[in-house]
Amino acid sequence: MPTIQEVAKKAGVSPTTVSHVINNSRVVADETRLRVEAAMEELHYRPNALARSLRRGQTHTLGLILPDSSNPFFAEIAHSIETVAFEQGYSVILCNTEDNLDKEDLYVDVLSNKQVDGMIFVAAGNQTGSLRALLRHKLPVVIVDRDLPEVEVDAVLTDNRRGGCLATQHLIALGHRRIGCITGPSHLTPSAQRVTGYREALIEAGLAVEDDLIARGDFHPESGYHAARSLLDRPGAPTAIFACNDLMAVGVLRAVPELGRRVPDDLMVVGFDDIELASYTTPALTTVAQPKVEMARQAVQMLTERMADKNRPLQRKVLQPKLIIRGSAQTIEQKSVH
Ligand code: RIB
Repeated sequence: MPTIQEVAKKAGVSPTTVSHVINNSRVVADETRLRVEAAMEELHYRPNALARSLRRGQTHTLGLILPDSSNPFFAEIAHSIETVAFEQGYSVILCNTEDNLDKEDLYVDVLSNKQVDGMIFVAAGNQTGSLRALLRHKLPVVIVDRDLPEVEVDAVLTDNRRGGCLATQHLIALGHRRIGCITGPSHLTPSAQRVTGYREALIEAGLAVEDDLIARGDFHPESGYHAARSLLDRPGAPTAIFACNDLMAVGVLRAVPELGRRVPDDLMVVGFDDIELASYTTPALTTVAQPKVEMARQAVQMLTERMADKNRPLQRKVLQPKLIIRGSAQTIEQKSVH
């Protein structure tokens, strides 16, 4: 790899002049600039990005820690974050923790050592150790989606409780009185808040909250499949199910026909997230849409503001979900309208 000294010798200038040309850090005569650029081209010289970053104290790189990059919700969030960050001159390093706290700790160290300028952080669980480590590193951080309310940090969240309420109210309005709920991991704030919304909607409608209509899932399709079978394959089965994310709702859609029933005729289904797949299932999935693109835009905006002023007041933005009605939870009459 040619050095800055070799470029300077070839161009007949000092290494400092070459550095000023590379970093545009001082006016250099056009004739001199052209000689330096010609020498760099001839020697195939590439400035050392890491050295330049250390000199400038910034790498124009953001870290993004996600718990499950195979989940379309996170894939879509990551895509939007990368798009917005790139438009603002930042590259993004994505780390997938697989919901594993040890891996989360490791990636916090990796990204801190890579001198990222800031971090967008979706927690693997409800532990705050990794997040507190990031804040100890004085690294600008914004948490997204999974709240850790005991830590003072910028946050972009969805009103999950409202979302759970919207899903359940929709099913009640369709006449359902026995509505099942398939939860995500109970220790994760989004799932707990959605189940709270489900309970509140039932109580508000004067309906009993029956624990045997609530089944545990883990946000993956297989858990939705097995939870649906346990809810449906018995007397007093629900006539509708609210699954706390779309992947588990997809699992429900597979279980129903195996039990000789049909969606929506015998069972209506509502999911949560509105991943792209939700409009391609059969029938298409009614779901509660999370504002993924807006979450990404807000997260990058808040992070760059924090990077510019580490002492600015904390920001917490709670964005509103939206019910998207499709074939899995609508009547024939509604179908004719939409
Ligand atoms: O589908 C994955 C779920 O985990 C989403 O609902 C999102 O809110 C995340 O917390």
